[in-house]
Amino acid sequence: MITQASTCRLITVSSPIFADSSKLAAKASRTIQAAFFAMAFAAVSLSTTALQAAAPEKVAVADLAKGQAIAAAACVACHAADGNSVISIYPILARQHAGYLAKQLHNFKVKPGADGAERANAVMGVFATALSEDDIRNVAAFYAAQAIKPSYSKDKDIIERGQRIYRAGIPSTGVPACAGCHGPNGNGIPAQYPRLSGQHADYTAATLAAFKSGERANSSQMMSIAKGMNEGDMKAVAEYLAGLR
Ligand code: HEC
Ligand code: HEC
Repeated sequence: MITQASTCRLITVSSPIFADSSKLAAKASRTIQAAFFAMAFAAVSLSTTALQAAAPEKVAVADLAKGQAIAAAACVACHAADGNSVISIYPILARQHAGYLAKQLHNFKVKPGADGAERANAVMGVFATALSEDDIRNVAAFYAAQAIKPSYSKDKDIIERGQRIYRAGIPSTGVPACAGCHGPNGNGIPAQYPRLSGQHADYTAATLAAFKSGERANSSQMMSIAKGMNEGDMKAVAEYLAGLR
């Protein structure tokens, strides 16, 4: 890398394009040098991360059997044993990204010194607070590993409007295309962007309303997006997503 950077500087300085302006040449060569150092640094830090990940004692591996036991004992009544809840106000957890599920369980808890949880929900506040760090990792990994039995659209009249919002956003109110972050098929991108496809429409619509009202305040991105949506928009996109595969 360092050899490359110095070679590059030599080439830049002697380049005829910069020959008439030594200042410009110096500036350009500094920029190029900086870029090469950044690349070299990134390469070094990547290999350090790889080494750390390889050290077994530092990696906390999820225990799916323990996660299953928690699900069967504490979550089954609402989310079902395999995460495919049958009641539409309870989110389907099956196949959701584990990192996203774990984040939500942390967000339902009231942090020390805070007035309320970032994601305020009386029921989930109680259940999440009862879970340890290990419990959260295990139950999130268990639900993420279950096959999804997706929900489906019931109100066919509004799914075209929902599809438009999902693919193109709502330009008049500044709402971006949902697909830009949640993916063309609504599968999300681990761990930041959750899966939305196949989710119960009632839950998705209620969640968008909670982002808008601030009851769910754990994503500044989603809170500002929901502000540009009315109830009809939310219902339409939620119906579309329930049937998306
Ligand atoms: C009495 C019903 C009930 C029980 C039992 C329950 N939940 Fe929930 N859960 C809910 C409701 C309602 C929501 C939606 C909350 C909201 O609207 O913010 C939810 C939301 C969630 C979410 C967020 C999902 C998402 O897509 O953002 C996770 C994760 C979750 N629950 C995990 C669990 C786990 C793990 C357990 C067992 C330890 C559990 N829940 C037990 C009712 C329940
Ligand atoms: C700029 C990226 C971005 C765009 C665009 C975006 N989202 Fe999101 N969305 C997120 C992030 C990040 C989260 C996770 C928030 C968290 O960590 O709690 C999320 C979460 C959600 C959730 C909660 C899922 C659950 O299981 O509770 C819903 C519903 C949602 N988005 C719907 C939409 C819809 C509908 C649109 C388009 C109108 C949209 N999003 C556009 C970034 C985005």
